[in-house]
Amino acid sequence: MDVILRAEGLEFFYGEQRALRNIDFTLARGEVAAITGSSGSGKSSLLYCLAGVLPPASGSVTFDGIPLTTLPDTELSALRRERIGFVFQYGELLAELTAEENAALPLRLAGVTKERAHAAAARVLQRLGMGDFLRRRASGLSGGQAQRVAVARALVHQPDVVFADEPTGALDSANASTVLEEFLALARSQETAVVIVTHDPQVAARADSQYTMTDGVITQRVAV
Ligand SMILES: Nc1ncnc2c1ncn2[C@@H]1O[C@H](COP(=O)(O)OP(=O)(O)O)[C@@H](O)[C@H]1O
Ligand SMILES: [Mg+2]
Repeated sequence: MDVILRAEGLEFFYGEQRALRNIDFTLARGEVAAITGSSGSGKSSLLYCLAGVLPPASGSVTFDGIPLTTLPDTELSALRRERIGFVFQYGELLAELTAEENAALPLRLAGVTKERAHAAAARVLQRLGMGDFLRRRASGLSGGQAQRVAVARALVHQPDVVFADEPTGALDSANASTVLEEFLALARSQETAVVIVTHDPQVAARADSQYTMTDGVITQRVAV
């Protein structure tokens, strides 16, 4: 297996409260992994530790052979910016920017020219059925449209891994299923691995591997 991300013995605490206990997790290049579990079971904390956003109290996270847990802050930020994408529950777009400007942001931050960044953003948005809304401000988009822009932004720089924390939690179930399917299809087409927290059993069933969390522990693994 060609491993892109590996975590060993992860522990995480909020004050005295332990949120993650001795978590081991391995993700192959291009793999789609789904994480389910009840509220408070530690899914978000795990995602943030895997993405290098929260430093674990103990254990290690290795990204393509690079130890994230001991990487200096500037290198960690650069790696996150260039090789990782994130889709949030509510999209979290910049309201005053257009769909295309929002989706182009990771490339602009990486120093790509405006022209090239916008062309790439437009291509990804078109693949998500958003070709007619490139110049629309985020504040004027529907929930489903905004979530597609958030997906485009997370994938536009062709990251090695994209993390998604209940990415369609704000959408009705029909809209959520469509956006999730488009998200996974786009990620698969560019061989971006995905770690997705979801309540949707249909999405979990379409992943390559499924994990269930209970009280900070991975209690079930299913390789599909
Ligand atoms: N900022 C925080 N401060 C204190 N406790 C927190 C914080 N965030 C989460 N927790 C606690 O950590 C545990 C795991 O939370 P979380 O990772 O958000 O779970 P999930 O995403 O599965 O709902 C829960 O008991 C939650 O109450
Ligand atoms: Mg959560």
